[in-house]
Amino acid sequence: MSTSEVNLCRLIYFSSASPELTDNDVDAILEEAIAGNELRGITGLLAYDDFHFMQVLEGNEDAVNNLYFRIAQDPRHYDVKLVHYQKVQEHHFQEWSMALARLPEVPGRYIDNLYGGFEPQLFTADDALKYFDMLRHYLQQAA
Ligand SMILES: Cc1cc2nc3c(=O)[nH]c(=O)nc-3n(C[C@H](O)[C@H](O)[C@H](O)COP(=O)(O)O)c2cc1C
Repeated sequence: MSTSEVNLCRLIYFSSASPELTDNDVDAILEEAIAGNELRGITGLLAYDDFHFMQVLEGNEDAVNNLYFRIAQDPRHYDVKLVHYQKVQEHHFQEWSMALARLPEVPGRYIDNLYGGFEPQLFTADDALKYFDMLRHYLQQAA
């Protein structure tokens, strides 16, 4: 077991994207996230529907907490709200240091069965986890 596997936790938040944000900005966020998370042994997924972000982060507790603190201050989004925080035994979303699901591109069959779509402000922690599971299946078959 590597040191990054000690004291694992999972964190999910959602936020509102800054109105000026362009597709290129979102690509830049993804690149930064991949580079930063590879360094820190963090894995996860980022969902984006042109208005909201929702992200799951898994990794060492200190690393995830520090990252969340930085992300929450990032001016590219606002109203960052924590949905779920839990200590875990292993990574569940381990495939990607970060992967982006652009929700308008995700076929409805993956996501229709929760409130008819992406309503992160209505999601319980369980809903958010189910939602990311569906996106994970989508991204796996899209790869
Ligand atoms: C929606 C969103 C998600 C982000 N996700 C990550 C991430 O998973 N990992 C990461 O290192 N940075 C992520 N960032 C970027 C961080 O907020 C920050 O800009 C980056 O880590 C560099 O921080 P530093 O300049 O303090 O090193 C994200 C930013 C936004 C707006």
